[in-house]
Amino acid sequence: MENRIMVALDVADAREALMLRQQLIGAVGWLKVGLRLFVAEGPSLIAALQRDHRIFLDLKFHDIPNTVQQAVESAGKLGVDMVNVHAAGGMAMLQAAAVAAKQYHGMKLIAVTVLTSTKTNKNTEQNVLERAVLAKEAGLDGVVSSVHEVAAIKNSCGENFITVTPGIRWALNSADDQARVATPKDAVLAGADYLVIGRPIVQAKNPAKAASEVVAMMKSV
Ligand code: C5P
Repeated sequence: MENRIMVALDVADAREALMLRQQLIGAVGWLKVGLRLFVAEGPSLIAALQRDHRIFLDLKFHDIPNTVQQAVESAGKLGVDMVNVHAAGGMAMLQAAAVAAKQYHGMKLIAVTVLTSTKTNKNTEQNVLERAVLAKEAGLDGVVSSVHEVAAIKNSCGENFITVTPGIRWALNSADDQARVATPKDAVLAGADYLVIGRPIVQAKNPAKAASEVVAMMKSV
């Protein structure tokens, strides 16, 4: 279960990130580096974070196909284990990204469908599903979605199509800016492959203890 948890290192700088890395050795399998940290610290931090964890570089590339292809190549050269693009970029952009990712065998390429902070309307699930199918057809390995769409995605795209689910919250946590939240237990029950967890672990007094509580919730299924 530890290896299905990705902790979102949404912190200001390398000092904080490296402290969390140290605290989370053995507690979780993955660290997710997003816009804030990558813009602040750049690629040099990735090497330090890679020592004991797998790395998901969450920069949600969304640009013209050629630019995205080159960005994915750069991610491959960094040796990250997962990188993502935004499915809203369309088929040509997704295919270009997939061409680049295929050169780096260990690296999974994932598409963001609809951000979990987006308020739902009657079309949300349909939009998520359409983007998941597009990503699958373009040759990507999986998608980011809320827990609520995992079953439908697996149904349309197959069991092996990876689902990465942010918006994880449990009793006493606030939802913050997330609109479509679910508990760790719900995520496992729905069949989510990876649980992205930021503030509930990063802002906990004891992040390793918070992570072990998540593992216990996941195992209770
Ligand atoms: O703190 P919290 O658990 O809400 O963090 C969720 C993380 O997942 C953030 O780093 C956010 O950028 C990311 N994410 C998301 N929704 C998506 C894709 C990524 O919340 N659809």
